[in-house]
Amino acid sequence: MENFQFQNPTKIIFGKGSIKYIGNEVKSNNVQKVLLLAGSGSIKQNGVYTQIVDSLNRTKIQFVEVWGVRPNPTLEHAKQVVELLKSENIQGIVAVGGGSVIDEAKSVAAGVFVENLWDIFEKKAVVRQALPVFVVLTLSATGTEMNPFAVLSNDEELKKWSFGSPFVYPKVSIIDPSVQSTLPRRQTANGGVDSLSHLMENYFMGEPSAEISLALNEATQRTVISQIDKLMENPDNYEARANLAWSSSIALNGMTSVALGGGEWTTHAIEHALSAINPQIAHAEGLAVMFPAWIKYVSDAKPYIFDRWARNVWAANSINEGVEAMQSKFRLWGSPTTLTELGFTKADFPKIVKCIVEYGRVGRIKQLDTTDFEKILELAL
Ligand code: NZQ
Ligand code: ZN
Repeated sequence: MENFQFQNPTKIIFGKGSIKYIGNEVKSNNVQKVLLLAGSGSIKQNGVYTQIVDSLNRTKIQFVEVWGVRPNPTLEHAKQVVELLKSENIQGIVAVGGGSVIDEAKSVAAGVFVENLWDIFEKKAVVRQALPVFVVLTLSATGTEMNPFAVLSNDEELKKWSFGSPFVYPKVSIIDPSVQSTLPRRQTANGGVDSLSHLMENYFMGEPSAEISLALNEATQRTVISQIDKLMENPDNYEARANLAWSSSIALNGMTSVALGGGEWTTHAIEHALSAINPQIAHAEGLAVMFPAWIKYVSDAKPYIFDRWARNVWAANSINEGVEAMQSKFRLWGSPTTLTELGFTKADFPKIVKCIVEYGRVGRIKQLDTTDFEKILELAL
């Protein structure tokens, strides 16, 4: 087993009725005035907003509201939020929503301390401090509620890029799975696909010496699949929501990836190019299309790990059968499985490949160049 270090400082408060603790958590971190950051309004429809406002008022926390974080959040909106944080002397952020709201919260929390927010993403500025971020999670998918990463889209330059810093781990994340029963079916499926993808990005880098990580990772993949199946039948199944929610957090909080070499992340790089070009594409939809194609293209470079995955996660007899089982599951959940369904044609390939390679070198199990990316895209068409 590889040597490793593990630390995750985020406090989790999990379960039905836990949103009411948000005010006390903010207060006990010595924060008196926060920004309440949210998306397009789903939290007003499902009662989450009222619970938060009640808790903040009860604990006498002042707050300023900003709405309108877009799915695939934008640099443009984040820059406006940074200005507001400065002018209002805000001490912390309460992010209420899914990955997009939380990632924008992390970005602006670090962004107030640098001259130019995008420099953090270009690795031209180092994050040395950030405002504390408090999370109320409404969509289990990205794992951002318990990790140090954030993704923003620079629409002007067609870059959907990420950064990671220990300073932006949320201080506290409240996960009440019951508020996720209002998710559209599509978003529930997206949560499953993204969580599975995070597990797979790490898993395929594994060696047999890391048996505990591989076994934990496989069990988490099987749990995600079975819980999404249940939720497709009944979106109000609380136990399935709860088991999925925790699986999704541990899929990218370090627990299921220790000693697995830091992960592959090629499929994520390809997906980020797709949704940079068309921000209407949800992150997980791009992953559902690209993951099977990537496995088909690279699995011969490390057959034993893909074979183990096919058998232990999908109860399949070969890598091909495993990929087919995954694709038919995605189809059953209503996820797209071809680039054509996402509106791309072969004519878009050069633009997509340019976006992928601009981000940096990708491809660890198999090093990939421009021609390889075109072939992978072809497999997904
Ligand atoms: O706009 P609101 O009202 O919030 O509605 C959202 C949005 O329309 C809605 N929604 C969320 N919770 C709901 C709900 N609707 C009804 N009931 C609820 N309880 O769902 C829609 C999608 O939300 P979004 O936050 O965009 O989805 P997700 O959580 O999948 O986040 C995607 C973003 O996270 C990035 C992705 O690239 C993408 O930008 N990622 C972040 C990662 C990280 N920080 O570690 C890792 C991931 O790999 C990923 O790249
Ligand atoms: Zn992801």
